[in-house]
Amino acid sequence: MTEETTTTFTGQAPPPVRDWPVPDLDGTVFDPVLAELMREGPLTRIRLPYGEGWAWLATRHEDVRLITNDPRFGRAGVTTRQVTRTAPHFEPRRGSLAWADPPDHDRLRKPVAGAFTVAAMKRMRPRARRMLDALVDGVVADGPPADLVERVLEPFPVAVVSEVMGVPAADREQVHAWTRQILSTSGGAEAAERGLDGWIRDTVRARAAGTGDDVYSLLGAAVARGEIGEEEAVGLAGPLQTGGEAVTHICGQLLYLLLTRPELMERALDAERRVPLLDELLRHIPHRSGVGPARIALEDVDLHGVRIAEGDPVYVSYLAANRDPDVFPDPDRIDPDREPNPHLAFGNGPHFCTGAVLARLQTELLVDTLLRRLPGLRLAVPAEEVRWRRRTMIRGPQALPCRWD
Ligand code: HEM
Repeated sequence: MTEETTTTFTGQAPPPVRDWPVPDLDGTVFDPVLAELMREGPLTRIRLPYGEGWAWLATRHEDVRLITNDPRFGRAGVTTRQVTRTAPHFEPRRGSLAWADPPDHDRLRKPVAGAFTVAAMKRMRPRARRMLDALVDGVVADGPPADLVERVLEPFPVAVVSEVMGVPAADREQVHAWTRQILSTSGGAEAAERGLDGWIRDTVRARAAGTGDDVYSLLGAAVARGEIGEEEAVGLAGPLQTGGEAVTHICGQLLYLLLTRPELMERALDAERRVPLLDELLRHIPHRSGVGPARIALEDVDLHGVRIAEGDPVYVSYLAANRDPDVFPDPDRIDPDREPNPHLAFGNGPHFCTGAVLARLQTELLVDTLLRRLPGLRLAVPAEEVRWRRRTMIRGPQALPCRWD
């Protein structure tokens, strides 16, 4: 693909193509390349470490909302091309929510939607609290110090998502090992995907007559009724299973901020005023490395005097949109009283995060339980000794060694 043949412009020179190497970053630092791209203009062009060619990148809140909710941009076209991208492995499959466009996307989302509603999550809350309390019981019994990533932040979301999905206790370790590998960019993802896919296929088949409200029973029943195909069920369940892991790393970043910023910890200890703080932290935390899945322009679209041509790949950055100074004054500052706070941490439009209510539930429970049951919680090592995940799509601390009173 060359820029001359695929792109026409409405009188404005095309922005240069910028290389975005997507480096490993420590702590909650905002990617400096993304910051530079935001300064350059609302629409820039980028070349990521993998795939081919270049893509547009939109960073303003208004444009990100437009592109993610506009049928002139679709996901399905990305699956047949080698679009420039953040991660090395790329195997989109039938049924994956992330790659489907409406109306197909609506058909696929329908069978699982019931398991993730506000009402379903309300029913889940006491079970989730019990699972979390059991984990923290172990931490309290063993006494300080403890690595809260290993002891709580990893096992809790896996247990909760496995409960929502209906993974039998005996299989949880193996399923977790696969999802962890899939999310890593360090290789081995294809084998893990094959392993997880095979397991999901068997589980969905075994629940064809399922009447339960767990996701695998809902999928088994939807396949049996002919609403979705078996491969589609596999494509649906995989990302749900891996999506749960995001909570581990995002809550890791969130906790790190509380543990290193006394004014934030003080605010977090005030349960009455905690929810707006958590929202502001979700806005501020740089969840991911690089960008998520691309979209393809399905027709020519003029934006900011630039023509995005039909067939051009387009990325949005939710992280950048969350720092748009026109929407969030003084965007780099964490302001727990920010009002309104229309952040896009869970995305926007048809692909809005399926697990957003579940993620919020877990985040609230984690902060509440850890601060209540581990009084005086603090890092057991200097902040600069906390090690951060490497070559990963979702950023977070590798470990959070902590002490308490
Ligand atoms: C999609 C954020 C937790 C399942 C997304 C998207 C974002 C996001 C930004 C992409 C929107 C797009 O493609 O335009 C988060 C954050 C989480 C979290 C910040 C935790 C704090 C979860 C959990 C689950 C989940 C717990 C499931 C159990 C999914 C799925 C999609 C998705 C299946 C694809 C939806 C679609 O394409 O229709 N999430 N997520 N996520 N998330 Fe989450």
